Amino acid sequence: MSLSTLSHPAAAAAAAGSGKSLSPAVPAGHSVRLPKTRPHVPAAVSAATAAVHADSAEDRVSALSQVSGVLGSQWGDEGKGKLVDVLAPRFDIVARCQGGANAGHTIYNAEGKKFALHLVPSGILHEGTLCVVGNGAVIHVPGFFGEIDGLESNGVRCDGRILVSDRAHLLFDLHQVVDGLREAELENSFIGTTKRGIGPCYSSKVTRNGLRVCDLRHMDTFGDKLDVLFKDAASRFQGFEYSKSMLKEEVERYKRFAERLEPFIADTVHVLNESIQQKKKILVEGGQATMLDIDFGTYPFVTSSSPSAGGICTGLGIAPRVVGDLIGVVKAYTSRVGSGPFPTELFGEEGDRLRKAGMEFGTTTGRPRRCGWLDVVALKYCCQINGFSSLNLTKLDVLSGMSEIKVGVSYNQADGQKLQSFPGDLDTLEQVQVNYEVLPGWQSDISSIRSYNELPQAARRYVERIEELVGVPVHYIGVGPGRDALIYK
Ligand code: GDP
Ligand code: IMO
Ligand code: MG
Repeated sequence: MSLSTLSHPAAAAAAAGSGKSLSPAVPAGHSVRLPKTRPHVPAAVSAATAAVHADSAEDRVSALSQVSGVLGSQWGDEGKGKLVDVLAPRFDIVARCQGGANAGHTIYNAEGKKFALHLVPSGILHEGTLCVVGNGAVIHVPGFFGEIDGLESNGVRCDGRILVSDRAHLLFDLHQVVDGLREAELENSFIGTTKRGIGPCYSSKVTRNGLRVCDLRHMDTFGDKLDVLFKDAASRFQGFEYSKSMLKEEVERYKRFAERLEPFIADTVHVLNESIQQKKKILVEGGQATMLDIDFGTYPFVTSSSPSAGGICTGLGIAPRVVGDLIGVVKAYTSRVGSGPFPTELFGEEGDRLRKAGMEFGTTTGRPRRCGWLDVVALKYCCQINGFSSLNLTKLDVLSGMSEIKVGVSYNQADGQKLQSFPGDLDTLEQVQVNYEVLPGWQSDISSIRSYNELPQAARRYVERIEELVGVPVHYIGVGPGRDALIYK
């Protein structure tokens, strides 16, 4: 894929033909390579999309809206990264709009080499794709550089291919320490966070004493602003160590980071909106999932950002009317890492079996994930909130070999009354009794099947029953972790 090497950001717009100069607030002179606009109907099938067999599947992917999104529909780890990696060659830009390095997105390149991404968008393996970390994300700069170094040392060129919003909030080591201290304080009711400092960083943002990426351009006042954060933490937590020399050291460290980060910094609100005007295609990559959303999830056992559709507009600065197709990623069963209610959870041997078959261990923390049956009540709730145009059912291969498969289809309250919607009240949720539908399983290995009609009848029945229950079509079916292990329905 050929690229236009452009001077960032003003020349980028000029070369793209707009003729308008971009934000004078962002100094030009750094080189960023913006991809040429992707054709809506690709000339050839790339290696990444070799799994597209039917013409209709090819057309379907090409027909995805100019701004599309891939969002988690359960409690995270549904396989969002894989779908983003597969779709990325059809998009000019892949953008993260929320969350931070609490995300762990596992993807494989064409040679089957594994990459675990945290903040860097999952479009990074495709040379022609520009990756954007939007204003709604939180950035731990040393972690971000660590990720880039890891990618570069594995032959993935990142230089000029990643933009970080000047409005995004900085996540400091101190936020990570506070995350740990808060969890320790909660004792038995801890959230089970990733300890990546996410909650404390978003708290600083909302308290309005947070530091943003653009503050790295004002090192003269950086120390004073950081001092406020340190003092805040020290006055709140007895175990929080703080001294003037620590502040000085941190400021010196950030002076070096500021220099290295400068070429990545951009007014991404401007870049994205200009790109939309220039008819470039943007794929939004969600981190976490709706059931972990600060508003819609199982509060307080949630993350601190908005991983559902609303987070796209606030986290990127793009208008609701430009957001088109949203694809909900859903595992063929359910997993959850961390504490909180999980109505269809399986314990003992049954849970172990799914965990082992699905290799359900966290990408970010390595923690064993709790496993259970698919929860259609929660899934329907997610579909309502996000308005998914289609679903990607992942890890269907993991269910092979089961004599029967259960699907949670409704909840009864403690008094036996059927609930009409997913409850917001955790006390209610913790007491629900799940009503299951039992479907026949299939015995054969489906991991090398690439055509929907070749799936065992019971597997097709499972997929179609989910479509019926949820009312949203399943367009993509994952049958393995690799790029090619995808069936287009
Ligand atoms: P994400 O956070 O939503 O991107 O998902 P994770 O990467 O944290 O977890 C999903 C895990 O399942 C990763 O190890 C993927 O490689 C793997 N995976 C994704 N899709 C499939 C699939 O269809 N089948 C199997 N067996 N593994 C998959
Ligand atoms: P991806 O993008 C699964 C969970 C944590 C904890 C809660 C709050 O890979 O799907 P936080 O560190 O965000 O304050 O933790 O949210 N959590 C995730 N679970 N996948 C994730 O990301 C998660 N990010 C956070 O386990 O329960
Ligand atoms: Mg994950």
